[in-house]
Amino acid sequence: MVYIPFARKYRPKFFKEVIGQDVAVRILKNAIRNNRVAHAYLFAGPRGVGKTTIARILAKALNCKNPSEGEPCGECEHCREIDRGIFPDLIEMDAASNRGIDDIRTLKEAVNYKPIKGKYKVYIIDEAHMLTKEAFNALLKTLEEPPQNTVFVLCTTEYDKILPTILSRCQRIIFSKVSKEKVIEYLKKICEKENIEYEEKALELLTHASEGCMRDAASLLDQASVYGEGKVNKEVVENFLGILSQETVRKFLRLLLNSEVDEAIKFLNELAEKGYNLGKFWEMLEEEVRNAILVKSLKNPGFTVENWRDYEEFKEFPLEALLYVENLINRGKVEARTREPLRAYELAVIKSLIVKDILPISQLGKIIGKESSQKGNNDKPKEEETVEKTPGGKEVPPMVNIEEIINSIQKPLIRRLIEDAEKEEKDGKIVIKVDLSYYKSYKKEFEKLKELYPFLEYELLEVKKKSSDRNKMKLF
Ligand SMILES: Nc1ncnc2c1ncn2[C@@H]1O[C@H](COP(=O)(O)OP(=O)(O)OP(=O)(O)O)[C@@H](O)[C@H]1O
Ligand SMILES: [Mg+2]
Ligand SMILES: [Zn+2]
Repeated sequence: MVYIPFARKYRPKFFKEVIGQDVAVRILKNAIRNNRVAHAYLFAGPRGVGKTTIARILAKALNCKNPSEGEPCGECEHCREIDRGIFPDLIEMDAASNRGIDDIRTLKEAVNYKPIKGKYKVYIIDEAHMLTKEAFNALLKTLEEPPQNTVFVLCTTEYDKILPTILSRCQRIIFSKVSKEKVIEYLKKICEKENIEYEEKALELLTHASEGCMRDAASLLDQASVYGEGKVNKEVVENFLGILSQETVRKFLRLLLNSEVDEAIKFLNELAEKGYNLGKFWEMLEEEVRNAILVKSLKNPGFTVENWRDYEEFKEFPLEALLYVENLINRGKVEARTREPLRAYELAVIKSLIVKDILPISQLGKIIGKESSQKGNNDKPKEEETVEKTPGGKEVPPMVNIEEIINSIQKPLIRRLIEDAEKEEKDGKIVIKVDLSYYKSYKKEFEKLKELYPFLEYELLEVKKKSSDRNKMKLF
């Protein structure tokens, strides 16, 4: 028997089999039932969500000899020919490869002939956004006054690229991404029909990887079941997709939060050696830290974070530390665009060295008070620094100090300005006195810094002060 890939084998043949495109299905079925089918439709939406599939069902319903309630019968000669792709009045054109004016001219000539067998001639123009401008213009006239019993269905994944003149001549139907739950349901059905042993978690991973594209979901399942010899469990899928488990990514996140940079860099290098896609790993890391922050901050994280309990372990870290790590992950991502990714990620990891010293703002007041009474003692080794007790009795090291903040500033000019500015401790905050004109010129940078260290405060000075006594007010 010839092997048919799942994505084709399980292509819906009736409107009722289509998953998750309720609006499109409803509009079309009603139009057929009430005899109000438009001359031209534009189906717009992401790839692999059913545009071509629905266009073919529409062609079937219009040409079926025994339709019922807007659905084709699936049994008559016309339905069967359409399913087999040999019905002469269904013309499918791929605009990606027939994008020129000559192709449209040929189409226009053919349009003038009556349907050969059926009631309607249906033209499906896939990837319609790929047509050239001239081809679009040639199509306009036909769309405006199409011969009777002709229906055009233009499909596109790039709605923005369709000329307004075309848009206004079509009835537009927007297709949406299919929800995760529905994709999983679809995969489950395929598994049952194919006698594939599956784990729910494995289907979740495949769904996640397919990013709402049903075609990808079906073909990933197809390949995973071959890879797992009929079994699709979590381990099989993780290996097959070459992805790391979320648990592993969370372990890495924990390394960053504990400033275990040696371990973290070793891990990164091992990943690179094994040929893993580091960019993909970094993306997962971004998602994991985001989830950790949401679970830490929200009363009801279940609304937005899937499997939110997996992130409760991160509640022990101060929000400030989580936000700092989120920021360095984000920077790492940006930098990986302009330099070798591994190096960019390593640098980000190095920045996590100071994370373990970040304390919640609630504990800063006390410590700043204590430190200020030890003024002038700031060059003693870190290990000997005063250790505070949290309310829970856990020992915590002193907060990130101003030198560390300064070192973390990327822009040399801003670093210099903050370094030179007078600083003062007030109500548990570090107040930095900044010349107003500087502040105005580099407002964004200053605000960014404050976002990162919410305990910073700026006092704006009208007149630029001399910075000769720059160490006088220094408290750290
Ligand atoms: N809504 C859906 N319900 C069930 N299966 C679907 C759905 N959408 C897509 N599929 C599956 O994905 C395959 C591809 O779908 P289809 O060709 O209709 O996508 P498309 O939207 O036209 O994508 P493209 O923009 O890439 O052309 C189908 O054969 C079918 O197996
Ligand atoms: Mg298509
Ligand atoms: Zn039929």
